[in-house]
Amino acid sequence: MITGASSGIGEAAARLFAAQGAAVVLMARRKDRLHSLAEEIEATGGRALVTAGDVTTAGDVERAVVAAVGTFGRLDAAFNNAGWGSMGTPLHETDDAVFEQIMDVNVRGVWNCLKQQVPVMLGQGAGAIVNTCSTAGSFATGAIAPYVAAKHAVLGLTRAAAAEYGERGIRVNALMVGSTRTELLETAIERTPGLEQAATARAIQHRLADPVEVARTAAWLCSDQASFITGAGVPVDGGCSAV
Ligand SMILES: NC(=O)c1ccc[n+]([C@@H]2O[C@H](COP(=O)([O-])OP(=O)(O)OC[C@H]3O[C@@H](n4cnc5c(N)ncnc54)[C@H](O)[C@@H]3O)[C@@H](O)[C@H]2O)c1
Repeated sequence: MITGASSGIGEAAARLFAAQGAAVVLMARRKDRLHSLAEEIEATGGRALVTAGDVTTAGDVERAVVAAVGTFGRLDAAFNNAGWGSMGTPLHETDDAVFEQIMDVNVRGVWNCLKQQVPVMLGQGAGAIVNTCSTAGSFATGAIAPYVAAKHAVLGLTRAAAAEYGERGIRVNALMVGSTRTELLETAIERTPGLEQAATARAIQHRLADPVEVARTAAWLCSDQASFITGAGVPVDGGCSAV
């Protein structure tokens, strides 16, 4: 199950997971884009199910998990990736509505997913969950304050869930993602001159990530190759957090 599968990192993950043999359940709000992606995956021999919905609505997430289990029989892995943020507004000038939206999508979204996915995985005695966090989950990156706070919370939820369910076969990890060339960032780059340079200046590799580079790490963490990794915030940031 991949949330935020209609673009960026989630879309790249859907293609990659399917190419690696997973039956993928695609969730996001933009139904048309999800259907085109599912058709593309099926045309190359993959299996994909679309369950359009909003991660901030518990009922939508429940429908996605029920559909996943109903269609494919189990839920081996979940990539809770939907998120939203922005930059450029100081804390005291940020609208309360923006604070609420950012908390809702990033924190409540992951919360809703964990609440629905964990019981299924407990029933199976196995499962792997990866939550998309950010370098903003470790330090103030320049994104707006509610996003920095929300991504710190995503790391907290990841660690708490890993600790609670580790003995029962469920691994939970977070991806500490650096600046990645997706719609989220492209929109901000178009609006803010010099942003791309600023976003890549700190990283050792001085470039934006391609979404598939993040997706590859998610696929690895979901696989048995990462069997002794849980509760971790794994950096995929071109060395940004090392310096
Ligand atoms: N792009 C970056 O530089 C960057 C850096 C660090 C972390 N991230 C994180 O990566 C994740 C994916 O973002 P992206 O860069 O691929 O951006 P994106 O905008 O291309 O994709 C975000 C996806 O989440 C979906 N989404 C947003 N709100 C939703 C909601 N309420 N319900 C369901 N789906 C929703 C969007 O439709 C889209 O499919 C996010 O959690 C983001 O915070 C991105």
